[in-house]
Amino acid sequence: MLTINATDMIGKGLHRECYSHPQDQNLCIKIAVNENVKETRREQKYYRLLKKRQICWDMLPKYYGNMDTNLGSGAVFEMIRNHDGSVSKTLEFYLKSIQQTERCYSGLASAFFALKKYLLNEQIITMTIKPKNVLYQEINDDAGKLIIVDNIGNSDYIPIANYSKTLGDRKIKRKWYRFEDAILKAYPDNAAFRNIIKSGT
Ligand SMILES: Nc1ncnc2c1ncn2[C@@H]1O[C@H](COP(=O)(O)OP(=O)(O)O)[C@@H](O)[C@H]1O
Ligand SMILES: [Mg+2]
Repeated sequence: MLTINATDMIGKGLHRECYSHPQDQNLCIKIAVNENVKETRREQKYYRLLKKRQICWDMLPKYYGNMDTNLGSGAVFEMIRNHDGSVSKTLEFYLKSIQQTERCYSGLASAFFALKKYLLNEQIITMTIKPKNVLYQEINDDAGKLIIVDNIGNSDYIPIANYSKTLGDRKIKRKWYRFEDAILKAYPDNAAFRNIIKSGT
């Protein structure tokens, strides 16, 4: 059994706490706190499908299975870190700060459209895409990558979009445009990011 230090928590959402692995800085462990069993099952099932499809894991953290810990069962994922070793921050962090958006403007701009292209190329279906579930990995001041850490998969009763490119594309684009609209609405003062979104249309 793996012993996690409570002080190693690097992030927390509504359902899970995310800790750095005590022996491997490239791994993180997610412990369910208010577990949504349906959501966990959907995510694990969808990850299995993506593994079977042998997608490229460029903008999704790799999943290494579950393990027992002193805090309960944990799901082991690749830890997203910046070039300086610090844990990557959420897109929400950048959106909230015009200074941060401007500092990383060109990296964010190319990463934003690279993520859209990636989702379409690899046919990765998401639930609602939220800025707090997307990390911006800084490679340097002018380059970076956006990585979706939560809420992937398809909750349709009959998930036919997982197997049809036309329906998949349609669904991915719909989620993407909702993501853009939600950013424009939630961060009306971030003119820099608005420019990024507008430059893609
Ligand atoms: N692979 C990862 N690498 C680095 N930080 C992460 C990773 N996964 C999650 N986090 C951080 O932990 C937070 C909570 O994780 P998340 O999976 O979104 O939990 P929840 O399902 O409760 O929303 C995220 O918002 C992010 O800040
Ligand atoms: Mg989350």
